[in-house]
Amino acid sequence: METQRPRILIVDDEPNIRQGLAEALHGQGYEIEQASSGEAALELLQSSPFHLVLLDLVMEEMDGIDVLREVNRQYPKTEVVIITAHGTIETAVMALKEGAYDYLTKPINVKRFRSYVHNILRSQELEEENRQLREQLRTRQEYGQIVGRSEKLLTILEMIEQLAPTDVTILIEGESGTGKELVAHAIHQKSGRGHQPFISVNCGALPKELIGSELFGHEKGAFTGAAQQKQGRFELAHRGTLFLDEIAEMDLEAQVTLLRILEEGKFRRVGGTREVEVSVRVIAATNKSLEEQVEKRRFRNDLYYRLNVVRMSLPPLRQRREDIQLLAHHFLGTFCAKYHKPGLKFSPEVTARFVEYEWPGNIRQLKNCIERTVILERGTEIGLDLLQELVDRESQVVAESGILVGQSLAEMEKEMIRQTLEHTGGHRKRTAQVLGISERDLYYKLKKYRLK
Ligand SMILES: Nc1ncnc2c1ncn2[C@@H]1O[C@H](COP(=O)(O)OP(=O)(O)OP(=O)(O)O)[C@@H](O)[C@H]1O
Ligand SMILES: [Mg+2]
Repeated sequence: METQRPRILIVDDEPNIRQGLAEALHGQGYEIEQASSGEAALELLQSSPFHLVLLDLVMEEMDGIDVLREVNRQYPKTEVVIITAHGTIETAVMALKEGAYDYLTKPINVKRFRSYVHNILRSQELEEENRQLREQLRTRQEYGQIVGRSEKLLTILEMIEQLAPTDVTILIEGESGTGKELVAHAIHQKSGRGHQPFISVNCGALPKELIGSELFGHEKGAFTGAAQQKQGRFELAHRGTLFLDEIAEMDLEAQVTLLRILEEGKFRRVGGTREVEVSVRVIAATNKSLEEQVEKRRFRNDLYYRLNVVRMSLPPLRQRREDIQLLAHHFLGTFCAKYHKPGLKFSPEVTARFVEYEWPGNIRQLKNCIERTVILERGTEIGLDLLQELVDRESQVVAESGILVGQSLAEMEKEMIRQTLEHTGGHRKRTAQVLGISERDLYYKLKKYRLK
């Protein structure tokens, strides 16, 4: 953070205009210097940096445009605002093309001028803060346990940093294995609630009849089998964070209950009469688009708005391939240590294959794949042969997880092809490889199922 006062340089060869501008900005907490010529301005700039230069374009000696060019070249962080008389708008427009921040036309309204300058300096400060934050994130080796330095990931890390200290409800969207839970956990740890519990609920795995009791707890004897009073997840998460995983899978009736507690912050245990009040920060995650679920009427609109105060979208691994190498080496290190196989390396073909592979199961798939190769590898180098088999098997597992009993084989086949195509971004050769069929067969099946 900058503690230094913002420095402003006023450049004009007419003393009364310089003086007028300086007076308008007087008492605002700035350090103001004046220069009566372009040369004098450049000299002052050389001796110490300025945040803002207010520049007259038409001066006797050196032209304002030349000063502007020099400032842009040597001090790119310094903003230049052109002060111009009515007749010279065209020159001012040219100045904008030369990189001036803006231009002001004389006569100048003092009050507006003050807030104008204030806003420029403030947004400059914010920009600088963001830049520093990004720089810090970039140079840090790891952020929590989050590995990766792609621009897309840095944006996520920045959001974590900014959102963690607030109590705002967050909705995290992203394909399976993109790190939703990891990010939720990082937010929790960076928040003031970090020493309090992080409670995770898999909304998809809760049987409908038990949701109430799971979330809110129950009193002794509330129903058959309730031998003891039990605290629900909301109570357990008191002062901490509640992570509602797979929120799209939540039963519609349960959604009503959830909405109520989110709005009121209190609830009754099942079979209880007393209201329990809790302070819980809620983070929800989904690998489906909640918006789509709302459209299909599988998710309540009002609950969606309540959860979607801030949305974070975790990019799939194939959209940030820069991270693959870093992640692969990180996991290799972890598993070599875990399985006592020091010095194990990837062959160059493996590294290349990693980077071009589509990773339908994202980081989890990469992690699992490396864990298994480390266990199975008997030599000192992980080669393509072993990897190929694992990667292919892994992507089949991912596709199979969507299969429902009751589907016909043909439906399943069609769905598998469709999903694999989606994962390879429509790459037919790779799709055929992953599915273990020839390209010709794939072509035939695409026609048969009318897939594009
Ligand atoms: N950037 C990362 N750096 C290191 N490990 C990561 C990263 N992202 C994810 N992982 C690891 O990958 C695995 C999957 O992450 P996580 O469980 O957070 O994914 P998810 O989005 O919740 O997936 P799902 O939707 O399938 O539940 C975890 O073991 C996690 O630690
Ligand atoms: Mg998860």
